[in-house]
Amino acid sequence: MSPASASPLPAGGGGAAALRHVAIIMDGNGRWAKRRLLPRIAGHRAGMEAVRKTIRAAGELGVEALTLYAFSSENWRRPASEIADLMGLLRFYLRREVAELDRNNVRLELIGDWRAFEPDIVADLESARSRLAGNSGLTVALALNYGSQDELARAVRAIAADAQAGRIDPAAITATTIEQRLDTAGLPPLDLVIRTSGEERLSNFLLWQSAYAELLFVDTLWPDFDQAALESAIAAFARRERRYGGR
Ligand code: FPP
Repeated sequence: MSPASASPLPAGGGGAAALRHVAIIMDGNGRWAKRRLLPRIAGHRAGMEAVRKTIRAAGELGVEALTLYAFSSENWRRPASEIADLMGLLRFYLRREVAELDRNNVRLELIGDWRAFEPDIVADLESARSRLAGNSGLTVALALNYGSQDELARAVRAIAADAQAGRIDPAAITATTIEQRLDTAGLPPLDLVIRTSGEERLSNFLLWQSAYAELLFVDTLWPDFDQAALESAIAAFARRERRYGGR
């Protein structure tokens, strides 16, 4: 069988590749707080500080894109009080942090169905994204109300609508057609997914995009993640041999 003509795989394959795009499942805020006999919100607050440190470190280490799983489409199942706390933190983060992100030349992308959030948060997200749009350093993609299956369902709906309107021939649909309609279109191919806190699952995060990504599960609880933890993850990535299905 000949290779697919429109393969989304990175060219080349084989050997260690440069690391362009890192994604993180930031897990363990609750356990971090519990160990200190603190309320869960204290863990999320400490998690927000880890977000600040990790963004700064990723920029300094020359990572091109950093995608952070900040709120999943399944997180709505949490108690209303915890959801309110997380939304409060997001508001606080956006208002407090945009100037610092701007100083660090960070660009902001948003993935997921974030427009379903409260109108004031949607407005803050849009304003942060447009303020940072001209920057040329690290791209931070915040996954907000994100679920991979929901993202794929939205992409399929968009393709079906195009097919129904005669804009696309169903026989011409390739992996690239799908990739172009994912929320991550425009971000570099995903190289490395890190999950903190010792859990070893993808939890509906970037399922399509992680087809050839390296997966790294570390025991560190998210609030304890920092520059050294990111450096050690990058070193572990550098020791992996990526073959993309080749030999
Ligand atoms: C998982 O820990 C973390 C989350 C559900 C939310 C992630 C949020 C942050 C890192 C803080 C806010 C971020 C921004 C960008 C404002 P968990 O609660 O599932 O921990 P557990 O598994 O130990 O209970």
